Amino acid sequence: MYIADNWKDYEVLDTSNGEKLERWGDFFLVRPDPQVIWNTPRNDQRWKKPNGHYHRSNKGGGEWEFFDLPEQWQIGYGDLKFNLKPFSFKHTGLFPEQAANWDWFSSIIKGEAQKGRELKVLNLFAYTGGATLSAAAAGAAVTHVDASKGMVAWAKENAVSSGLQDAPIRWLVDDCVKFVEREIRRGNKYDAIIMDPPSYGRGPKGEIWKIEESIYPFIELCAQILSDEPLFFLINSYTTGLQPAVLSYMINTAIVSRFGGCVEADEVGLPVSGNGLVLPCGASGRYTH
Ligand SMILES: C[S@@+](CC[C@H](N)C(=O)[O-])C[C@H]1O[C@@H](n2cnc3c(N)ncnc32)[C@H](O)[C@@H]1O
Repeated sequence: MYIADNWKDYEVLDTSNGEKLERWGDFFLVRPDPQVIWNTPRNDQRWKKPNGHYHRSNKGGGEWEFFDLPEQWQIGYGDLKFNLKPFSFKHTGLFPEQAANWDWFSSIIKGEAQKGRELKVLNLFAYTGGATLSAAAAGAAVTHVDASKGMVAWAKENAVSSGLQDAPIRWLVDDCVKFVEREIRRGNKYDAIIMDPPSYGRGPKGEIWKIEESIYPFIELCAQILSDEPLFFLINSYTTGLQPAVLSYMINTAIVSRFGGCVEADEVGLPVSGNGLVLPCGASGRYTH
């Protein structure tokens, strides 16, 4: 399993009965997690006094209940700083398990950057920019694409907080599929591609993204904008059907068959400090040349 075990400002403290208890810097949140189907005793007293609790509703969705939680606060990961704001749905603006992937590709980028290679990385469905900032901090020029203007603005805020306001990052509000199609027509190439697609999403003009239907043709499109010696290709997914073997098979048929190289795939997880468990948080497929 790819485990995000380098956090200091974030921790999963415990998991029980459909929820997880987390520490985000100095604040404690209780949030739903569909993976937590066990009902273990809640011995940690912080379950009783969190700063924020997202209650699921039977009708779908849910709502936050706050207790002395600022509207916005920051946590760090190495030199990166992320602004957190619990907002619509159960999200805070960061998927901490992704740090396992950030560490993986950062060391590849740093290795190449030290050899003097200029690297162009494309980050698709880029959300609040965790992967963008990690790749930029490691030395890559990054193109960041997300359909939501608000998310791109938030990612830029995170870049400023991380001291990366002058880093070579191109910020784009666009539909990922349309953007890649345009890049094919323009003949633009990238040395590495990162993507974290949602199960269901919409582009800025209402373009529909349904992962099971869209992902394979999209990977084939992405293969057309990889440079001749691509450095890496990363797909992350939380969608239940996209298990590691499925990610690995898609990358093998669309990327390895064309460029050579190899792929490995595994579940991604967060350590749970209270019980030694590792909480599964989706899967990643990792290609390297
Ligand atoms: C980081 S991803 C998904 C996060 C996580 N993997 C999950 O499933 O909850 C979500 C991002 O994709 C963006 N998005 C959704 N559909 C898109 C599309 N068609 N083109 C570009 N970005 C899109 C959203 O705006 C959002 O920031």
